[in-house]
Amino acid sequence: MSCTLCPSFVLCGILKTVKKQKTFVFVCSSCGREEPKWLGRCPECGEWNTLTETAVSGRGSPGGGSGTGAKGLPRSFPLSSVDPIEGSRVSSGIAELDRVLGGGIMKRSAILIGGEPGIGKSTLLLQAAAAAKTKGRVLYVSGEESAGQVRMRADRLGIMSGSGGDRIEIFCSGDLEEIQTIIDAVKPVLIMVDSAQTLFSAEAGLSPGTVNQLKYCSWELITWVKEHDAALFLVAHVTKDGVIAGPKSLEHMVDTVLYFEGSTAGAGDGDCRFLRAAKNRFGSVDEIGIFTMGEKGLSIVEDPSLLFLVRREGALPAGVATAAVLEGSRTLLVEIQALTVPAKGAMSRVFSDRIDSARVSRVAATIEKHLGLRLSDQDLYINVAGGIRITEVGVELALACAIYSARTGLPLPAKTAIAGELSLAGEVRSVRRLPGRVKTAKNLGFSAFLGPVPEAAAGAAAEKEEGYAPAGEIKSAIKAIFS
Ligand code: TYD
Ligand code: MG
Repeated sequence: MSCTLCPSFVLCGILKTVKKQKTFVFVCSSCGREEPKWLGRCPECGEWNTLTETAVSGRGSPGGGSGTGAKGLPRSFPLSSVDPIEGSRVSSGIAELDRVLGGGIMKRSAILIGGEPGIGKSTLLLQAAAAAKTKGRVLYVSGEESAGQVRMRADRLGIMSGSGGDRIEIFCSGDLEEIQTIIDAVKPVLIMVDSAQTLFSAEAGLSPGTVNQLKYCSWELITWVKEHDAALFLVAHVTKDGVIAGPKSLEHMVDTVLYFEGSTAGAGDGDCRFLRAAKNRFGSVDEIGIFTMGEKGLSIVEDPSLLFLVRREGALPAGVATAAVLEGSRTLLVEIQALTVPAKGAMSRVFSDRIDSARVSRVAATIEKHLGLRLSDQDLYINVAGGIRITEVGVELALACAIYSARTGLPLPAKTAIAGELSLAGEVRSVRRLPGRVKTAKNLGFSAFLGPVPEAAAGAAAEKEEGYAPAGEIKSAIKAIFS
């Protein structure tokens, strides 16, 4: 057997050495799937001719998860001998960001911030870069904007007048090798990469912008922060439908995934922005951060309880109900708006992007069955004032009241807050932290509250509140509120 790397055409071992250092796999440039051999068509995404041969260097576990013993052999160690990393958090200087992260930025962690273009990801990161309560320097890597553009934004945000501006180092390139050189020189405590999609490396195949490039470059940076006392923020653009192969493929690599959402275009919706955690290794995923985008960037909303109500004098229009819902540790009062019109097609449809359409359909079916109100020939439009997405189950009774009101043309009484879950059998089920909801509504000037029949001792406190109307099922709830 001859060796192609050796001029003597004898097996010399060079090839063996090369193979040992690098493994070659075939990676789909469209979805990132790895295959041990070349295929004409990717079995994952079905694209043709997208598999290219790529070298993968040996990937260790970041963060010192494994150790090396004598003679370089891997070894494990007792869990009790490992120092916990809990406690090493630093504040980002932005209370709402800290809240979503679970109490601040965890050192040695990687945080992905996804969102549509123009939602405010770069703004948030630049503000955090200046405000973070860390000693040491912050490296802001911008692959999308020039240094001049970032400086202009920083001036607009009022960062340069404070001390924050001095410790931000800016580097405008997506070249991973260059970024690594800068990181080794600057030794930052925080690295902001805007955005992950602009990263590229010669090591990760020839075509930039592929999923493999994205994964390889992000992994290298994640590994660096895990081995040093730093944290990494990676920006990732997400399109309207939110399912892009790129950022999704990063989700399992990072510790925290935050999504920045809101209504960039929406009459009357204001400029609210919501930061939600989709994954958090160091905290809950319940909390949301609420911001408003203004002249001087993002500001936090001190008291968001009333942000999602439309100020009105006198009676409410038909189709509007106020729900008292929980978002993490906060109670919010939100206006639910419903509209029913005769179906335009053979099948009726639900248009609802703030409350899950499946939930709306289920509540509509429950109303139809238990109140005998025909909805199946109607198109149903649901909106939430302020553009906030509501995922909490306690919104269902208010949603039912709004739909009922829209269909019948009967308005709900003003200053009435509603909370409750609806079962398919038409019962109003109890919800978490009912007394807290009733109290918040009362403090905000709501004189009446429609909710479930309190069953536990905790719930009994709510019923004692003046103006509390308990309802066991949807029928009695509708009767109580519309009579
Ligand atoms: P940006 O942070 O660039 O969004 P992303 O990085 O997610 O693409 O924010 C862009 C939008 O924010 C843009 O439409 C302008 C607006 N904006 C303000 O309204 N006020 C400000 O102070 C700044 C910096 C931006
Ligand atoms: Mg940006």
